[in-house]
Amino acid sequence: MDMCATCHSGNAGHMLKSIFAFKPGNKLADFKEITFSHQVVDSAKLDVHGNQAQLLSSSKCFMYSKMDCATCHNVHKSEKQLNLAMYSQKCMSCHSTTTHNEYKLTPQLGGMIKNNCIDCHMPARSSHVIAVQTSRGGRAVPYLVRTHHIAVYTDASQKVLAYLKKSYKQSNDKNNK
Ligand code: HEC
Ligand code: HEC
Ligand code: HEC
Ligand code: HEC
Repeated sequence: MDMCATCHSGNAGHMLKSIFAFKPGNKLADFKEITFSHQVVDSAKLDVHGNQAQLLSSSKCFMYSKMDCATCHNVHKSEKQLNLAMYSQKCMSCHSTTTHNEYKLTPQLGGMIKNNCIDCHMPARSSHVIAVQTSRGGRAVPYLVRTHHIAVYTDASQKVLAYLKKSYKQSNDKNNK
């Protein structure tokens, strides 16, 4: 975690020593003063783009299990090709049964969500530090990155559920034709 966080914990925090002297096995706290707030996520300060370490460690998954970056990421492989179903498998390695009380999911929808825990629980949020400015004074286009604060996001969940219901209905209609 500390090694990954030399780069993936943003610029916030006071430097004690040059980070370039860091060797795997060293403690990040000897180099950089960063607060790992285990209770609150100040999303105004913790940017989704560069603060994966703090965002992850403020999640209940991290606090109540043995988890680090390597639980989901394999540093010895290119991850460009990975898909959300593969990441969802990682979730299910700990969450084999989920209740989803409020979301009275039909068996069909229940089957569909198994391929994508990510869009509801690690939704893409816009970065405060990066945006794409369109030419000639146009609007700044937000730069979306997935948050590493794993939690319940009602807004994202409602969107995904509506999408799932729609595509389920469409495939059903097709089959009935
Ligand atoms: C020396 C700085 C540095 C360290 C240390 C580092 N990263 Fe990164 N990481 C980067 C940069 C820069 C990128 C963006 C590279 C790009 O987009 O091509 C990146 C990208 C990634 C990505 C996105 C991969 C992709 O293919 O799009 C993952 C996942 C990741 N890092 C995980 C880790 C993990 C896990 C560790 C610790 C084992 C780690 N990183 C350590 C700098 C670092
Ligand atoms: C290494 C095991 C582990 C992995 C992997 C894991 N979790 Fe968790 N997760 C936990 C534990 C432990 C808790 C805390 C359970 C409790 O509060 O009783 C938790 C809590 C949660 C919660 C409740 C959060 C809250 O704030 O109430 C959600 C939602 C969740 N996990 C979703 C996920 C998703 C989605 C993934 C994959 C991206 C994932 N988890 C990966 C162990 C894990
Ligand atoms: C519970 C699983 C999980 C853990 C643990 C985890 N990640 Fe990720 N990470 C993901 C998922 C899911 C994505 C999004 C993949 C996608 O959209 O294709 C991601 C994407 C990333 C990216 C690319 C961000 C982007 O979209 O440009 C980086 C960088 C990254 N993770 C770093 C880390 C670091 C550093 C740690 C440890 C502090 C970590 N991750 C721990 C699941 C995890
Ligand atoms: C359509 C959005 C959506 C999808 C997809 C989804 N969840 Fe959830 N999840 C929620 C919402 C909303 C809650 C909180 C309300 C509730 O319990 O229904 C929740 C609650 C949870 C909880 C905490 C309650 C419990 O059962 O312990 C865990 C853990 C969890 N989800 C894991 C997962 C995993 C793992 C996946 C993928 C297999 C997943 N979720 C897919 C929306 C979703």
